[in-house]
Amino acid sequence: MASDFEHWVLSTLLLTTFICLAQSAENYTFPNDPEYFNEEGAQRLLNRVNDVYWASATVYRQYADDTLSPEILMREKLRPFYETMQKFDWRNFVDPLLRRQFEVILRGAKYPPIDYKFKRATNTLKNMSRKKWVCNKNELTNCQMAFVHQIKSVFTNSDDLDELKYYWKEWRNKMPTDVKEALHYYISYYKNLSTADMAPSAFWYDQYEDPDLLYELENLMKAIRPFYREMHAHLRNVLRHKYGNDVIPPTGLIPHHLLEQVTYQAWKKETVLKNPFPQRKLPNLQTELDGVGLKPFDLVNISVQFFSSMGFRNFTEEFMSEHFIEMEPGTGGPDCKSRIFDFGEIELHYCPRVYYKKLLQTHADITAVQYAIAKNNFRVGLNQEACPGFGAALGEAVILSVSNPKHLQQRLGLLQNYEYDDILNLNRLYRMAAHTLLTLPTYFVHEKLWVDIIDGKVPPEHYNCHYWNLMQKYMGVEPPLQTDPGVYDMPYKFYEGIVDQHRSTKKIFDEFLGYQIYRVICLNIGEFERRNAYKPLDNCDFYGNKFAGKFLYDMMSSGSSKPWREVIKPLTWIHATNMTATAFLEYFEPLNTWISDDNINKNLRVGWMPIDKCKLGIVPPNATTVVY
Ligand SMILES: *[C@@H]1O[C@H](CO)[C@@H](O)[C@H](O)[C@H]1NC(C)=O
Ligand SMILES: *[C@@H]1O[C@H](CO)[C@@H](O)[C@H](O)[C@H]1NC(C)=O
Ligand SMILES: *[C@@H]1O[C@H](CO)[C@@H](O)[C@H](O)[C@H]1NC(C)=O
Ligand SMILES: *[C@@H]1O[C@H](CO)[C@@H](O)[C@H](O)[C@H]1NC(C)=O
Ligand SMILES: *[C@@H]1O[C@H](CO)[C@@H](O)[C@H](O)[C@H]1NC(C)=O
Repeated sequence: MASDFEHWVLSTLLLTTFICLAQSAENYTFPNDPEYFNEEGAQRLLNRVNDVYWASATVYRQYADDTLSPEILMREKLRPFYETMQKFDWRNFVDPLLRRQFEVILRGAKYPPIDYKFKRATNTLKNMSRKKWVCNKNELTNCQMAFVHQIKSVFTNSDDLDELKYYWKEWRNKMPTDVKEALHYYISYYKNLSTADMAPSAFWYDQYEDPDLLYELENLMKAIRPFYREMHAHLRNVLRHKYGNDVIPPTGLIPHHLLEQVTYQAWKKETVLKNPFPQRKLPNLQTELDGVGLKPFDLVNISVQFFSSMGFRNFTEEFMSEHFIEMEPGTGGPDCKSRIFDFGEIELHYCPRVYYKKLLQTHADITAVQYAIAKNNFRVGLNQEACPGFGAALGEAVILSVSNPKHLQQRLGLLQNYEYDDILNLNRLYRMAAHTLLTLPTYFVHEKLWVDIIDGKVPPEHYNCHYWNLMQKYMGVEPPLQTDPGVYDMPYKFYEGIVDQHRSTKKIFDEFLGYQIYRVICLNIGEFERRNAYKPLDNCDFYGNKFAGKFLYDMMSSGSSKPWREVIKPLTWIHATNMTATAFLEYFEPLNTWISDDNINKNLRVGWMPIDKCKLGIVPPNATTVVY
């Protein structure tokens, strides 16, 4: 408790320091005279805003405490200017970039000033997965288990169903009240923002410039649904074989703890999953990497080279040694997360360890660095990413190019003893899908639940049954057990997913858009040809291709000078402004075909039977117990 309290005092102090420092930099007066409120006056004002912004960006780097996102802190920083800015007739400015700058910056004006409560709720939600409140099943007096990583590790490694169910239920039943309070704080925060013509979800989608973004996300879910259903039938069969007929209910729904286990085991060697061709072993990429003997900085250097090969400007040795900093061993948490400061001066603090996932992640980090450099050519407001998740989508596209067998073999000298034929490749796609295809609808369920809640479409007593109705509809999943009355059953990702840095929207957005960007580049550089078995979408490499570099650079260098829908126009020849699932489906096409055929051969039923859990809730408690 004491350390928690100290943490609060400390971080509140830092926040105050941060805000004061920034404000002292400003100390401006703007003439109240109407003649100043023209475009020239606006330029002058924005010069000041720009100065404050850059000064604050540097301060931010020194005082960042990880609770609030840089976006929110910078929004706070510009607050003293909002009132003056709103006095301009900026919508009628002649200069389109100036107009856009006002538009983007003034989005921040709609939010109330951040306070201690906001900060506390944000921290609770962000950190709840690491809070320890569950007692060890074999030692009930030891209650030091957090979801990440203790319980997650049980899910990843145990095949004792009683143990899995115990932790599934205990983590939910024992959830501290401050988590629920933080959730309700956030709900009320968004509800309070709404106005007569803007629903709370319109604020939630503010930065996407589309109050109805959820419809578009829903369409993406519809597009992947046939593939998902085949995968679901396949997994249900695998789980039945592993755990016996009686673990899968007759409705065909998969109990949630089992699906979670599958997701956590997607990259594991020993797993409930069964590769399409088990006799063909996938390579152990860690052993491969160890064989090459790389150091942590080499991962950075390799990623930098990747961009240079595509024609991006080379970083000088000085730039690399000054701006890329190796973190102390043991920092960055169990995932060894790197940190990137892309506001103001760029700094990458990278993980001091070498493993395959880090190799890929570092490519995404350098993508973020390149994006930051490209958009820092702009002034405040226009130098943001096109929308949340846009930078991650660029990173995703790069990862798809780096992680395929062609790149790993030809450019990195890995997998020299493997022949990557169609069969081995199906195994690879299967593991990728076990992860991606299952997590996308999960994020969507969290997103939709959240939007339905803040828009008041579900009464609070139905939050939980609505969650299960969505899980059932989009995922074919049901609760393994009934938790105590009043308990919410959502996993930690739901709670994290309502905090802006980790929002679920971003995850859905960056996956689909990432595949789209990857696909269009592959098509244009001739590495992918439709209906040509020698040029499949899943084995295309951008390395060394100047067109690929230019294409990425062009998307990066528009910053937020135009809406993301404009930025994605080059992705399709019809200049569509919507995301599509086509690229994602095309990538996994061989696997989708294989699974569908296999399901037919095994005579498996595809799909499940829905039961409305909220309607059930209305009948007396005795009657509901029969269903489970
Ligand atoms: C998150 O929770 C863990 C475990 O209680 C704690 O050690 C850590 O300091 C917390 N982090 C923040 C930012 O509060
Ligand atoms: C929302 O408004 C209500 C009523 O004014 C207030 O009690 C509540 O504290 C507000 N919630 C937040 C998060 O500011
Ligand atoms: C495409 O985006 C528009 C908004 O620009 C939206 O109204 C429409 O529903 C979207 N269409 C699809 C198929 O997602
Ligand atoms: C980065 O890689 C290049 C080319 O592989 C090499 O010449 C250079 O020495 C490396 N730099 C460092 C600091 O290791
Ligand atoms: C970057 O450096 C490499 C040599 O390491 C060179 O071949 C290439 O032309 C340089 N690229 C640019 C854009 O200067």
